[in-house]
Amino acid sequence: MARRLEGKVALVTGAARGIGAGIAAAFRDAGATVYGGDLGDGDGDDRTLRLDVRQEADWQAAERQIREREGRLDILVNNAGVELVRPLPEISLEDWRHVMAVNVDGVFLGCRTLQGLMAATGSAASTASIINISSIAGIVGYPDQAAYNTSKGAVRHLTKSLAIEFASHGQPIRVNSIHPGCIRTPMLEEAVAGWTKQGLLNRDDPWKDVGAMCPMNKVGSPRDIAMGAVYLASDEAGFVTGIELVIDGGWVAR
Ligand SMILES: NC(=O)c1ccc[n+]([C@@H]2O[C@H](COP(=O)([O-])OP(=O)(O)OC[C@H]3O[C@@H](n4cnc5c(N)ncnc54)[C@H](O)[C@@H]3O)[C@@H](O)[C@H]2O)c1
Repeated sequence: MARRLEGKVALVTGAARGIGAGIAAAFRDAGATVYGGDLGDGDGDDRTLRLDVRQEADWQAAERQIREREGRLDILVNNAGVELVRPLPEISLEDWRHVMAVNVDGVFLGCRTLQGLMAATGSAASTASIINISSIAGIVGYPDQAAYNTSKGAVRHLTKSLAIEFASHGQPIRVNSIHPGCIRTPMLEEAVAGWTKQGLLNRDDPWKDVGAMCPMNKVGSPRDIAMGAVYLASDEAGFVTGIELVIDGGWVAR
């Protein structure tokens, strides 16, 4: 891949697997220095951070480490998220708060904690870029996932609010959201296993059924999302802020 992110420093949350791992790999291929945060201690790589996005102290430690080592942060991808497939009567207040804590508080804390370093890094010619991973479930409703859908709707609107706030204060940080459709990751594999068990998908080939729900008749890969993130992170997207980039094989276009 052309080195479209050469010289840039990035932080990706939820980077241990799935879409986050795909984005981190694509950013490295594009020439960026990439820090990856997740719940575990990682593989010993000194750019792997233990970063529970619910914890303000973890964010502050990550900010300190990146500032001291790199002196800059060009790209923040708020990707960490949790899914909850459960009908409304079975969602406890505790469940609801857990989904909001990871999916919404996590994005808020990330944007707030890194804003200063990113504003100092960006310039008119090369703006810093925050990319928040929402979902098509943040745009349209799906049954049995009210907490998840609501959290992703909040991510969509937080993104637009900050895009306008930073632009109106002349801060060189763009903020955009990505809305993936069905992407084959451990998160979706767990959901598909549950739907198959309930008899909602064909037991012999559930992934064929999942693909058939999409106009392009396929399930996406983390790389499909990662290439959108590379674009939004790059200087080629210098006039792009506040958008919702839907990558879903046509799902919400129907
Ligand atoms: N897979 C899909 O079809 C799909 C569709 C739409 C949106 N998304 C969104 O994409 C993002 C990534 O999803 P995925 O499918 O790769 O999920 P995944 O479950 O496969 O990976 C998520 C990663 O986030 C980490 N994580 C969870 N809670 C965390 C916390 N509190 N702090 C830090 N890290 C935490 C997990 O440990 C895991 O490594 C999520 O925000 C998800 O909602 C996924």
